Amino acid sequence: MKPLLVLTAFLALSALLIGPTSTFGQGLKPIQLVQPQTEGGRPLMQVLQARSSSRSFSTEELPSQVLSNLLWAAFGINRPASGKRTAPSARNRQEIDIYVATAGGLYLYDAKAHSLEAILAEDVRAATGRQSFVREAPVNLIYVADFSRMGAADDEKVLYSAAATGFISQNVYLYCASEGLTTVVRGSIDRPALAKAMNLRPEQRITLAQSVGYPKK
Ligand SMILES: Cc1cc2nc3c(=O)[nH]c(=O)nc-3n(C[C@H](O)[C@H](O)[C@H](O)COP(=O)(O)O)c2cc1C
Repeated sequence: MKPLLVLTAFLALSALLIGPTSTFGQGLKPIQLVQPQTEGGRPLMQVLQARSSSRSFSTEELPSQVLSNLLWAAFGINRPASGKRTAPSARNRQEIDIYVATAGGLYLYDAKAHSLEAILAEDVRAATGRQSFVREAPVNLIYVADFSRMGAADDEKVLYSAAATGFISQNVYLYCASEGLTTVVRGSIDRPALAKAMNLRPEQRITLAQSVGYPKK
């Protein structure tokens, strides 16, 4: 076969294998988050007093320090020697990944590097829920369980990953209450549509989403 023909065949095959994912990560840069501030915040009992859901968001972006603190509080590494996290997980499988949907694109939180991996150069916020405010909140977290990382039976995978999501979500609630941010955890999601938009693998299951931002004035 002529070299040009081989190249054309290779490109055609690549396009077939990769599929309609040309915008995946393309043009979107990863973000190295600033060091999280792991001291301070309001006293726990005051934070518990303030914890609540709210669905009215300003479009104001989260400052980079706030985004860093939020993700560390959610599911960051709090014991570097063991790599363990701010939320528990069954058998320490750490099966929940946090995707971060912003106006600029979709990212994946890498707790070890405390960075955001570039996933998709598209604003998928509107696809993260069935309620209209999701497109206004500057950050929508999408909790995705990776069943391939779990060593349990299938029904246990569902139970354990739902529980793990709850712990992470509550960390986010508490951080938001401490910082004067608005948040709501959400189950009302068109999961197949969102999974498609995010190009998830079949063993990746969307559990919940959570909108975060400043209250609308
Ligand atoms: C598993 C779960 C799913 C939820 N799904 C949604 C949702 O899709 N949309 C929404 O607006 N609120 C949702 N919520 C938030 C609840 O409506 C809220 O927690 C409840 O009304 C109590 O209010 P509070 O959080 O302020 O105490 C959900 C909460 C949980 C725990």
